[in-house]
Amino acid sequence: MSGIEWQLDELGFVTGSVHEAIVTTMSSDGSLNAAPMGVTRTGPETLELKLFTTSTTCANLLSNPSACVNVTEDPALYLVTAFKEADFPGFPVPSIDRDLRLGSSDAHVLIAVEKSLEESKLREVFNGEVSSVEVTRSLPRVFSRGRAEAIEAIIHATRIEVFSKQGDKERVERLIKRFRECKDVVNRTSVTDSNEARVIRELEKMIEGWRDRASG
Ligand SMILES: Cc1cc2nc3c(=O)[nH]c(=O)nc-3n(C[C@H](O)[C@H](O)[C@H](O)COP(=O)(O)O)c2cc1C
Repeated sequence: MSGIEWQLDELGFVTGSVHEAIVTTMSSDGSLNAAPMGVTRTGPETLELKLFTTSTTCANLLSNPSACVNVTEDPALYLVTAFKEADFPGFPVPSIDRDLRLGSSDAHVLIAVEKSLEESKLREVFNGEVSSVEVTRSLPRVFSRGRAEAIEAIIHATRIEVFSKQGDKERVERLIKRFRECKDVVNRTSVTDSNEARVIRELEKMIEGWRDRASG
């Protein structure tokens, strides 16, 4: 077993399973970008990304094949990188170095991607060959339902935004119900000034805004 294969195993990347991480990329003009993305381990040293063609991450990878899969479970990092146009006072501004490492991540998995067959008009699939793994956090973290549910709530929110803009009220209401279930768990398990509880409050404000705009 190679060093990279062992490191991916230890980080929890299971072959065939989807994991969540923050993927950093660079555009053709050199600007850096970070966004949460699902990452599937497809082989001993390969990771796959399925990206909506509307995303900046997809556009960047089509012009520059390097990416970094940043391992973190901090909901604040997921929030600020998923909704980059929004202003979140008191939340950290993500820092990305020229080698695409996202600051405050627990590990950086550097990959070189090649595009595989276009999955559909909406999504592109990229296969990434892992070139190196760097671990920055020495201690494991205890599992937190609140942190996990806050990240789940961010995924729902990214879809609520899209469906609100499309005027798809039924899907919006279904996702808002799921968002509220995440919020309940966070409120029952995490303190009010935790990152996860603060993330839920920010998401609630954004969801209200999208709903008002859709109905007004
Ligand atoms: C945990 C999580 C996982 C996500 N996974 C994906 C994914 O696999 N593919 C995708 O295209 N968008 C995914 N998204 C949505 C993107 O992060 C979101 O659309 C983001 O704004 C894209 O940013 P970009 O345009 O800078 O690439 C995910 C969002 C979250 C919160």
